[in-house]
Amino acid sequence: MSMMRAIEIAEAGGPEVLRLVERPAPQAGAGEVLIRVAAAGLNGADLAQRRGVYPPPKGASDIPGLEVSGTIEALGEGVENFAVGDRVVALLAGGGYASYCAVPASQVLPLPVHLSFVEGAGLMETIVTVWTNVFDIAGLAEGETLLVHGGTSGIGTTAIQLAKAFGARVAATCGSEEKAEMCRKLGAETTINYRSENFASILRERHGGANVVLDIVGGPYLEGNIRAMAPKGRLVFIAFNHGRMGQLDIARVMMNGLTVTGSTLRSRPLAEKARLVAEVRDKVWPLIRTDRFRPVIDQVFPLAHATAAHQRMESGAHIGKIILTLE
Ligand SMILES: NC(=O)c1ccc[n+]([C@@H]2O[C@H](COP(=O)([O-])OP(=O)(O)OC[C@H]3O[C@@H](n4cnc5c(N)ncnc54)[C@H](OP(=O)(O)O)[C@@H]3O)[C@@H](O)[C@H]2O)c1
Repeated sequence: MSMMRAIEIAEAGGPEVLRLVERPAPQAGAGEVLIRVAAAGLNGADLAQRRGVYPPPKGASDIPGLEVSGTIEALGEGVENFAVGDRVVALLAGGGYASYCAVPASQVLPLPVHLSFVEGAGLMETIVTVWTNVFDIAGLAEGETLLVHGGTSGIGTTAIQLAKAFGARVAATCGSEEKAEMCRKLGAETTINYRSENFASILRERHGGANVVLDIVGGPYLEGNIRAMAPKGRLVFIAFNHGRMGQLDIARVMMNGLTVTGSTLRSRPLAEKARLVAEVRDKVWPLIRTDRFRPVIDQVFPLAHATAAHQRMESGAHIGKIILTLE
């Protein structure tokens, strides 16, 4: 049995519980490919899993990591659309912080030729999440306004660029002027420093309200999000980092015909992930090829320094994606 390097969560806790260990390398099952990982992207979910509040779904690896770039090492039975040696990126349900991972071929896309492994590593989890929530579920249309909270997060930098590329107007919240400048550079027309400004009033004044709101804050923003929305607006939750409970102004929801929804990606059935990845290949990959969407990389750490990478993410100082490298 061949062994590999991986990062294990020794016990629930802070960044220091991440341990570099040797593990048996996985094998490609039917319909899967085995990827020799070059780089892995960090996500908010990895931090939650490490803290012990977001366990991996049934059947998924206990090794953290939801997205990688790398080279195909082996093909499982029935896989025909990839070859050994192909440079690829993949969406995982876990297991990305390791030298090898096995993943359904339907969750793998070619690494765009002009991108490095580091640039490709952070694409899949954020792009598929933004695609399914902002476009698929909330149906953001050309000319509409998207409000995205945390505009410089991995999710935020992706949402701003995709919404802009599809002809929407974008407003983004963030916590500093440096971050606001980055949001504008990526295509946000309106930036709001949530520490000193009221995002709901600004959205109503400058945009006549948001048609879609992508929220990661949760309870404390519920009232503001509802107030920030235009008639027929759609509020989509993908996290509730500051609390799961809030007070909903039902009258405003009724009078404005608002929709409140949300989703998680990791636990969805394989067929649904396959559909989303195929849509991303058709709709988003051309934008990457033509440079209308660019990965925003904050910092790169070797796998052995996963603790420092998590500390960086927890500090909140980062802009864009934090990446671990394997080679
Ligand atoms: N449901 C799903 O399927 C799914 C999939 C992927 C990710 N997610 C979630 O999406 C979130 C973002 O993920 P990520 O990996 O991009 O994380 P990240 O880069 O660490 O982003 C966290 C962001 O939150 C912002 N923030 C904190 N307090 C805020 C506030 N009061 N108002 C506005 N923004 C605030 C921070 O911005 P400032 O520094 O400017 O404060 C930071 O940019 C995570 O919670 C993750 O779990 C969900």
